[in-house]
Amino acid sequence: MRLLVCGGAGFIGSTFVRQRVREHGDEVTVLDKLTYAGREENLSELAGDERLRFLKGAIEDPRAVAEAIELGAPEAIVNFAAETHVDRSIAAPDAFVRTHALGTYVLLEAARERALRYVQVSTDEVYGSIEVGTFTEDSPLAPSSPYSATKAAADLLAQSYFHTYGLPVTIIRGSNNYGPYQYPEKLIPLMVLNAMHGDPLPVYGDGMQVRNWIHASDFSRAIGHVLEHGEPGEVYNAGGPDEEANITVVRRIIELTGASESQMEHVADRPGHDRRYSLSSEKVRALGWEPRCRFEEGLADTVAWYRDNPSWWQPIRSGEYREYYARQYGQALGQAP
Ligand code: NAD
Ligand code: TYD
Repeated sequence: MRLLVCGGAGFIGSTFVRQRVREHGDEVTVLDKLTYAGREENLSELAGDERLRFLKGAIEDPRAVAEAIELGAPEAIVNFAAETHVDRSIAAPDAFVRTHALGTYVLLEAARERALRYVQVSTDEVYGSIEVGTFTEDSPLAPSSPYSATKAAADLLAQSYFHTYGLPVTIIRGSNNYGPYQYPEKLIPLMVLNAMHGDPLPVYGDGMQVRNWIHASDFSRAIGHVLEHGEPGEVYNAGGPDEEANITVVRRIIELTGASESQMEHVADRPGHDRRYSLSSEKVRALGWEPRCRFEEGLADTVAWYRDNPSWWQPIRSGEYREYYARQYGQALGQAP
């Protein structure tokens, strides 16, 4: 297939692009704004591969979108482009509104003009928190943060293009992803790098919040299944096989890195913090997908990847991230281990 992958220089987008080019022989054009979280280096494993083209640009810029479509003549658009960190959305929601609402609108218009298939990559966070039970695709949307509320806005706009214009739109909602190339603001890479550096491990509140973890390679395969076999107009959930409390994840990272339990610190809770996410994936399983990676094994591999790839995270940990970290956590990160 020929694909336009928006946000393909981020964590999951780059995983998906590597998978599609290597395992399916797809021709991929990546359109990415290269925000603090987007890095061309995330695609360096495909350097020199003629099946990959890269264009720097924002999805809310119709000229950049038109240029990317001209460059790659795609049959489908897969949209990963997003601001993705809940804490940043609480501190400054404006970019979230622009990228998720306006950006998704510009992409949908471009798809409509050219009758392209469209896959919107979304999140279980649009359903809000669930203390008991599991969300299905029919659960009501009840987002809690500016991140999840603007992601829900994008989903609803995408669905309206199916209902109103018959655009073949499919939405996939993933649970919490982990794996190589994840920006260290997120729980797992933050804790792994802090553990390795002897920095504090900041657990929000009591640490008993539960997340449903999916390896990014499994989520990427689910997106591929939905792209190839999903029904237009439908929503598919893709959750991982394991649910864990945050504090259990942090303790496991302490064991895997040989860090000290005394590094763990309970800090002020996140405002509006969702207590638990849990996702039923029966519908996407019926398309022939199932997760391959259990959390225990995937976490060990992820810790090993960060240990073995300092050239990936060193420039991040010495740049904008340090300023973000000091603002968010009220203390500076340590230096080299
Ligand atoms: P990420 O922050 O690592 O990557 C986002 C990418 O989008 C970056 O490369 C960034 O430069 C690009 N981008 C941001 N704004 C843009 C814009 N206006 N125009 C073009 N590019 C832009 O995020 P991720 O974790 O890889 O998430 C990818 C998608 O998957 C998002 O839509 C997110 O909501 C969704 N998702 C993420 C998770 C998770 O746990 N990380 C779970 C479920 C769904
Ligand atoms: P995060 O990786 O930000 O993903 P999301 O908020 O989208 O689920 O956070 C995962 C969980 O970890 C969430 O319950 C918040 C918690 N958390 C901490 O306890 N400390 C931290 O420093 C971070 C970044 C997250």
